Amino acid sequence: MEAMAALLPRAKDFGLALPAPPTRPQRPSASTAFRGSFGLRCFALPAVASFLTSLRSQSRRRFSAPRRAVNTDAEYKIDLEGLVSLCKRRGFVFPSGEIYGGYNGFFDYGPLGAELKNNLKRMWWRKMVHCRDDVIGLDSSIVTTPSVHQASGHVDNFSDPMVDCTESKKRFRADQLMWAKVELEDGTSAGYVSMVEDGNVEVALKKAAKKLIKQKKIEGGFKELEIKDMTDATEEEVKLIPSPATGLPGSLTGARAFNLMFETYVGPYSDGASKSYLRPETAQGIFVNFKTVTYVMRQKIPFGIAQIGKAFRNEITPRQFLFRSREFEQMEIEYFIDPEADFKAIQEEWIMEMWNFLKAVGLKESLLDREVHEGEKLAHYARACTDIVFTYPFGTQELLGVAARGEYDLQQHAQASGESLEYQVPGQKRKFVPHVIEPSCGVDRLFLALLCSAYDEDEIDGEKRSLLRFHPCVAPITCAIFPLLKNKPPLVEKAKGLAAMLRSSGFNVLYDEAGTIGKRYRRMDEVGTPFCCTIDFDTLEDDTVTIRRRDDPLKVERKKREDIGAFLMKECQLPEQ
Ligand code: GAP
Repeated sequence: MEAMAALLPRAKDFGLALPAPPTRPQRPSASTAFRGSFGLRCFALPAVASFLTSLRSQSRRRFSAPRRAVNTDAEYKIDLEGLVSLCKRRGFVFPSGEIYGGYNGFFDYGPLGAELKNNLKRMWWRKMVHCRDDVIGLDSSIVTTPSVHQASGHVDNFSDPMVDCTESKKRFRADQLMWAKVELEDGTSAGYVSMVEDGNVEVALKKAAKKLIKQKKIEGGFKELEIKDMTDATEEEVKLIPSPATGLPGSLTGARAFNLMFETYVGPYSDGASKSYLRPETAQGIFVNFKTVTYVMRQKIPFGIAQIGKAFRNEITPRQFLFRSREFEQMEIEYFIDPEADFKAIQEEWIMEMWNFLKAVGLKESLLDREVHEGEKLAHYARACTDIVFTYPFGTQELLGVAARGEYDLQQHAQASGESLEYQVPGQKRKFVPHVIEPSCGVDRLFLALLCSAYDEDEIDGEKRSLLRFHPCVAPITCAIFPLLKNKPPLVEKAKGLAAMLRSSGFNVLYDEAGTIGKRYRRMDEVGTPFCCTIDFDTLEDDTVTIRRRDDPLKVERKKREDIGAFLMKECQLPEQ
């Protein structure tokens, strides 16, 4: 616990905002709210005059998606701050560039985090690519010709609304800067209150309103607050709303669009001609390779192209640890279908495929839910979109989305490149631009959800301890190997031999000879290792070893040393749903 306390102040290094359980609907993540042209948030601002109107209507849409109330007490024994601390203590995730104080929105995965993340990606690839005959893989470049992002609309439209405080030089996401007019019972105004959304806006703004009234020595109460965000503020209101940084009105600017793509310069000159972008999604790399992949792999529709890779978004306010960062990874599939196919049925199949995958890698089903986007919440091109949401300790939020995107992307690239992206139906005269179903999952959000699901606490001999219940298919260390005593060379030799044998079979195992067996078990439980094998004196007689399961510690089995590999192989299979 001492170590934990020492680490807690560093939680802010992770860009962590720690909200209390929300008392009002949580804001959907950007993509939930605006599947812009490419499943991304998108504030299309064709003219400045329509900007605020556009922001306001988008903003209303954001709030139209009520979130399940979070019963964190019932679901969780740990809060986000605890998780951040645990991730650091146990070698899962560190702030990037920590010796320089960290870098907001960027993270480094430590030794165990790297293993867990790699296993997640491997399992996804196995299930979505290797286990299906209608999906093939791709690995496209992070930086590509800017024509791609121009055609896709990201250059013009991939924005969030931003507000500046000219006094403090701080920047806020306009849709996260909440405010309310404090209207007295007699209809006059006592002024305005504001805050950056943190999950408990209503309570906090009420408190601020009471304080304001007290400061102004006003008798009596005020009317119920109508809470809005800065995309809903008129020019007049903007002047009266206090900046959360200074507490004073007059320094906030109106909302304006901030493009989230990171710019970079390719080649020796840094000018307009050499400007390009770090990709904000992996999807575009799939669309622009559609024709070549179809041809070289002789694919017949329906089929999908899968990709796992980094994406970058210059989030105005990265927060909630890995949930919203500036550099993250996506696992995406663009599944190309006949425009006349029953797209709803195919979308449903992909939702179930994703749902089952999430369950198989170990997410608790009780923490999963669906959120269907309908009506004006859908982007203009989208035919349907369903998110799978997960109840994190800070609220229920989008984990992944499955969108039916029509033919928009391929049409855009065909038009801009002059290259036909039509599919010729074999043996027929019929040609068409395929439509797309897109399951898109953030690796880091899944990583965080997995940690939340796996975290548990128990008590041994009156001593409380925490452990991680990872499924063997993703656990960073599959099996630990212990000699019963470290000063008995025959035991040590056999244990090291078993570790080497398992390593050569492809398992990540850990050899540990330090401390009592009980302590060694506990260390492994803490990092989520599902199995521990102990070499004891019986091993010298009959070449059997004990296997102890993390989740059933009293049931210790004996197995032949040579059978351990096959046993682990079986246990590490991704469960069939
Ligand atoms: N190609 C579609 C697309 O990119 P999106 O909803 O914007 O859609 C897909 O992103 C997934 O990527 C999200 O469901 C989420 O899991 C992950 N993601 C998006 N922005 C993220 C961020 N800033 N930090 C971490 N993960 C993010």
